[in-house]
Amino acid sequence: MRMYDLIVKKRDNKTLTREEISYMIQGYVKDEIPDYQMAAMLMAVYFQGMTDEELADLTDIMAHSGDMVDLSEIPGIKVDKHSTGGVGDKTTLIAAPIAAACGVRIAKMSGRGLGHTGGTVDKLEAIPGYQTSIERTRFIEIVKRHGLSVIGQSGNLAPADKKIYALRDVTATVESIPLIAASIMSKKLAAGSDCILLDVKVGSGAFMKSAEDAIALAQKMSAIGEKAGRRVTALITDMDLPLGNCIGNSLEVAEAADTLQGRGPDDLTEICIELAAYMMELAGIGTVSECKAKAKQAVKDGTAMKKLAEMVTAQGGDASVLYRPELFEKAAILYEVKAEKDGYIVHMDAQECGAVSCMLGAGRETKESRIDFSAGIVMRKKTGDRVTKGETVAVLHTSQKELARAAAVRLLAAVEIGEKPPERIPLILAVVDRDGVRAYQDK
Ligand code: URA
Repeated sequence: MRMYDLIVKKRDNKTLTREEISYMIQGYVKDEIPDYQMAAMLMAVYFQGMTDEELADLTDIMAHSGDMVDLSEIPGIKVDKHSTGGVGDKTTLIAAPIAAACGVRIAKMSGRGLGHTGGTVDKLEAIPGYQTSIERTRFIEIVKRHGLSVIGQSGNLAPADKKIYALRDVTATVESIPLIAASIMSKKLAAGSDCILLDVKVGSGAFMKSAEDAIALAQKMSAIGEKAGRRVTALITDMDLPLGNCIGNSLEVAEAADTLQGRGPDDLTEICIELAAYMMELAGIGTVSECKAKAKQAVKDGTAMKKLAEMVTAQGGDASVLYRPELFEKAAILYEVKAEKDGYIVHMDAQECGAVSCMLGAGRETKESRIDFSAGIVMRKKTGDRVTKGETVAVLHTSQKELARAAAVRLLAAVEIGEKPPERIPLILAVVDRDGVRAYQDK
């Protein structure tokens, strides 16, 4: 077999066999196929797409390129959750403890920030002492004892994805529905849970900019999961503005803890209750509406917050920062960004908000960059809010004084002020599962 012939085949919109896909992925992981040939293949896939069969084979082969995590020692149904990436998205820190407090077993491997989006592992590492890299046996032990553990992806989880993702990042082939579906689902299949709740983000801060694309991605991922014997539900959720008020690692941990204590912003609270309820439904705990009631109760009676603190302590972290966020190290500079005219915020470019947060130190510029956990943005106003000239729209947190002015200009440019309030976009747009796509209905 020759990689050249496989590139021609895909370029000419013919279907690759499982053997051909396996040859290509294994060859690439072993460095027998060079980057330039894989890049040509990725671009051919970008333009020609893949059949469902090709996509299922690609995902399965990528999942099996490294360790397949065995969670069978943990009794009960294990449920994983994955967000396709957003700005201010700290939902794992809230929804997972709520679901765990209600009896779901969650053995979760999370990622780091990617581009303008944040990552759960970086947020957890903002908690002093928290270990995101622990032995597999300890990880399983924590889930058995506490029902919840969140760690970083081990180096050998779907290594084919790691290598292909890095190549996609520099060859303009990230925004391809089959390539994103295979990338996410290969890691989810390898991570070993029985059920997967996908939070597919749509809007200016997400990889998917239109609801049609987000639904198409959710359908592909659901089909891959079901074919591999996992139950999958996907919620299509709004990411046209940052989620909650805080962007940046320790700011987001503090906001997550607030939300678990019933003091969170409405959008974040609502979405986390929904995500937790759908995780519980997948675990067979009840109907979505029954699970929503249980999720709200777990916040009200403090068991969800206790669950997060338990996990943090079990993983070596100092849980006192969850109850007293003032213990987090503070940024040296707090810079207020003020509205330049009266009106309503009609739109925010959430991707730009994420990029500004990264610029302030909350994200990485290169793989080697160190994150400033205290850096980020606190939004005082969001889409739909009325503002008056000179009023504070956001507060920038940074230790780099020289950056603050430029960051403020960039943030203001990302916030559009108009005369009339905008139409409200629902927080949850649709639900996708093996039964198809349905518009979201509040139950
Ligand atoms: N997240 C992933 O893990 N992979 C993608 O391709 C996009 C988002």
